[in-house]
Amino acid sequence: MSQSQVVVNPLQEGLRSERAGEPCAMVILGAHGDLTKRKLLPALYALFTQDLLPPGFCVVGLSRTQMTDEQFRTSMEESIHKYASDLKFDNESWERFASCVYYRSANFGSPGGFGELPALLSELETKHGTRGNNVFYCSTSPSLYMSIVDRISESGLGTRKAGTNAPWPRIIVEKPFGTNLETALELDEHIHSAFAESQVFRIDHYLGKETVQNIMVLRFANAIFEPLWNRNHIDHIQITNAETLGVEGRGSYYEEAGNMRDMIQNHMLQLVALTAMEPPISMDAEATRDEKAKVMRAMRPVDLNNIDKYVVRGQYTKGWINGQEVPGYREEKDVSPTSTTETFTALKLYIDNWRWAGVPFYVRSGKRLAKSVTEIAIEFKKAPLKLFAQSFGEDEDAFGPNVLVLNIQPDEGISLKFATKQPGPVTRLRWLSMDFKYGTAFGVRSPSAYERLVHDCIMGDSTLFARTDFVESSWKLISPILDKWQDPDCPPLDEYPSGSWGPESSDRLLGAEGRKWRLL
Ligand code: BG6
Repeated sequence: MSQSQVVVNPLQEGLRSERAGEPCAMVILGAHGDLTKRKLLPALYALFTQDLLPPGFCVVGLSRTQMTDEQFRTSMEESIHKYASDLKFDNESWERFASCVYYRSANFGSPGGFGELPALLSELETKHGTRGNNVFYCSTSPSLYMSIVDRISESGLGTRKAGTNAPWPRIIVEKPFGTNLETALELDEHIHSAFAESQVFRIDHYLGKETVQNIMVLRFANAIFEPLWNRNHIDHIQITNAETLGVEGRGSYYEEAGNMRDMIQNHMLQLVALTAMEPPISMDAEATRDEKAKVMRAMRPVDLNNIDKYVVRGQYTKGWINGQEVPGYREEKDVSPTSTTETFTALKLYIDNWRWAGVPFYVRSGKRLAKSVTEIAIEFKKAPLKLFAQSFGEDEDAFGPNVLVLNIQPDEGISLKFATKQPGPVTRLRWLSMDFKYGTAFGVRSPSAYERLVHDCIMGDSTLFARTDFVESSWKLISPILDKWQDPDCPPLDEYPSGSWGPESSDRLLGAEGRKWRLL
């Protein structure tokens, strides 16, 4: 279908073509779910209002629920008001956007379950000039991913046809990608039966966060940090992801996943890789992903015979968050009263390569902790001589060290802690912090992670998506730990009250080596 045959396309107006990808239809599988309402549709509408969607574009929502196009559009409009209040909404642009949004019910689990989707997509190709390119966004329960791939294959909508201008399919897969090494490999093989690796976009929304993208800019666009970024100058690295939220009605999902699969295997290991990777030879997607994959391959397997020295897990009990009493995990909806699912994990990891030999990476993540904060803290070695010992007083901690903190959220920015002399006739030292804050420095709205990632997929840029080898190595690290946890002789799960900083065993993980978690 050539562009000249396109009849009406309200999305074509005012596009900056250099920022828009190739025409396509975005098929959202699981369109009635929370993710679509909270993140995807708001992201697509935000891209539309910034003229960042391709000239030929439309959205097709699919899920089990019976609904008309009009009902789906109304429900999406309500969601945008509810969940994306930071977006500039105006009726005129919404009407134009909504006129390219469609809905069909489908049953992903049974043969023929896509129903009239193939016919609709070819009708929309003519109507909206999508050129037959389709992005399939899997926003369903992960248990349906394989069936979805079967439906795509049986409808002839997978695998790119021969020829440079032939229509392409792409697939976006939400985490968790598999539940262990074996299922991840199986899923990968299945997806590859219908899609080449270059057409697979494994989404990890942490990679779409502005501050996470800034890690590479900080490291590789500035010359001052890299010479210090290694075992000679860095004592250790702490990565914290703390949430005050509990499981928020996702009890049945969380019972299966737990913190390790929900946060560590994907988001946290991506942060480790970005912090530890070597400079890529270019900003090309594969060059960047090659370096991250190398970090994962160099990750030392956890010593399972001494697992308590490397990994601790905890589960929240009832407690207080922001002045409100909150229930324990086992009292949450859809959670077993005897559940042993971890809601907190702390790990000590080592990367056995030249740069990081002997430098521990401490990673912790948990729900119902005292504060919501995600950061990467690079703790440098202390100055070799305590020349100013008396100027700090007795407190040993007051000697530093210098810490460079990358604040991922909520106060996005970077800060560097360093010693300085207090004004006055005697030499008294104090640790201060030099801060850069995104909000005040730029004063513009940051795009949501989904806006960035959906746009990148439409552009065909996979830099910020997890590659198959990264996923495989991450499971090679995590799967044995999950298996060991099933072992009756493995140290049991520890409890921690909601509103605390996790179980005491987490402090012991660092304390055993004379270190402490940062006070946040
Ligand atoms: C999701 C997890 O991937 O990330 C959630 O499934 C978690 O359990 C969320 O709450 C955290 O994301 P963010 O962007 O709020 O840090």
